Amino acid sequence: MKVTALSLEQTPPLSVPLRFFLTAPVFVVAAAIVLLWHGHAALDSRWTPPLLAATHFLTLGFLTMIMAGAIQQLLPVLMASPVPRPRLTSAVIHLALTLGTLSLGAGMLTGKGGLFLGALVVLGAGLIFFVLMVMFCLFQARSSHATVFVMGLAVIALLVTAGLGILLAAGHGLNSVPLFRTLTDLHLLWGMLGWVGLLVIGVAYQVVPMFQLTPNYPGLLMRWLPRILFAGLSIWGMGLLFPEERKWLQWIGGGGVVGSFAAFSFMTLRLQQQRRRRLSDINIDFWRLALVCLLAAMGLWTAQGFLQLPQTELLLGVLLVAGFAMSVVSGMLYKIVPFLVWLHLNNYMQATGRWGEQIPNMKQILPSQRSRLQFWLQFSALLLLLLAAVWPGPFIRPAALTMLAAFSLLWWNLLDGLRLYYRYIGAGEEG
Ligand code: HEM
Repeated sequence: MKVTALSLEQTPPLSVPLRFFLTAPVFVVAAAIVLLWHGHAALDSRWTPPLLAATHFLTLGFLTMIMAGAIQQLLPVLMASPVPRPRLTSAVIHLALTLGTLSLGAGMLTGKGGLFLGALVVLGAGLIFFVLMVMFCLFQARSSHATVFVMGLAVIALLVTAGLGILLAAGHGLNSVPLFRTLTDLHLLWGMLGWVGLLVIGVAYQVVPMFQLTPNYPGLLMRWLPRILFAGLSIWGMGLLFPEERKWLQWIGGGGVVGSFAAFSFMTLRLQQQRRRRLSDINIDFWRLALVCLLAAMGLWTAQGFLQLPQTELLLGVLLVAGFAMSVVSGMLYKIVPFLVWLHLNNYMQATGRWGEQIPNMKQILPSQRSRLQFWLQFSALLLLLLAAVWPGPFIRPAALTMLAAFSLLWWNLLDGLRLYYRYIGAGEEG
């Protein structure tokens, strides 16, 4: 791993990112239980309450939870811009995301207006606070790396997503507010392709060369790709608002978005081909799986413009959420968590004068056999979810059960890394 570009002395306390990383897999387990409970009825349409709840346990409870934790780690370390009062800030954001997502999911499952109302207040306040905090830090950032700009675009996309989500949740929870279903596609477009997609691209610019020892992304691509993607999303979004008259806007915007993600995927796969050390690495396997799913989703979206294909919406959702985003995020956890445990152990040993003591290396903190087993479970869950999107009857429960096993093991693997840290420094200490 190349760590020379990092401001490691600025690293926040271990509890700041880890509270997010350890909560996130529990939400996937919750999503799996919802799908297990409701079975194939959950997939009757994209609007069923269990599917909407499970979707948000995955997109808010898992993806946004981990991305929020990772950003609070990356701002000081990659961009030399520390988050003010990191413990308090992270505790507030974590609490709002956890309670807000639970309330939204429960509202969707029960249809109770009060739960929707609670969710939109708590999630709205928490996410606005988070976006303002990130913007503040990005303005202070001393790095001029392309990631700073792309992260800014990503949090703007999160703000749009949250705004639309709140309007939709109000439509579900309050009789006085109509449910504008035309906004749902706009909401998921900005959520999955804007917030998640842009952040993955921006972070990849730094972490793919650093963690996977590849050459850097070309400067021209780093500069223009996020701009084209953001413009594409804006044009596509306008097309969705005026679907009949403005079909061509959707095609132009969609073309920009599909082209950007395809260029990003092919470039990343090419850089991985050129890496200096070709040892097997679970992080790369997760990234490859994610990029293949992203390319498949872009291909499927393009194909459905010309052909009548069955179950395209569900397949696109599975490919983007479980295939692309959840794979990237899991792969990143397997790099970030052992590295942070090692770094904080190292700092602790130096601070307490225990110079001569051996500390475990990253492979000992998270043994590769266990992460590989977890990878195959997650991969199997993805295949079963894809089958369930087409044939829900026989496949939804096996898919949910495998997902439950995969993310319980992910949670256990991360927890074990943290336990090792506490074993070394003795109970009661914090990084
Ligand atoms: C403040 C946060 C959020 C709130 C209050 C919220 C609320 C909602 C609501 C009420 C719906 C149902 C719309 C309908 O019935 O037509 C919905 C759909 C959806 N949301 Fe969110 N959402 C939030 C954040 C997110 C995020 C961050 C993502 C993705 C990263 C996301 C992804 C989706 C998706 C994919 C759907 C569509 C599901 C489908 O059509 O099958 N949401 N959201």
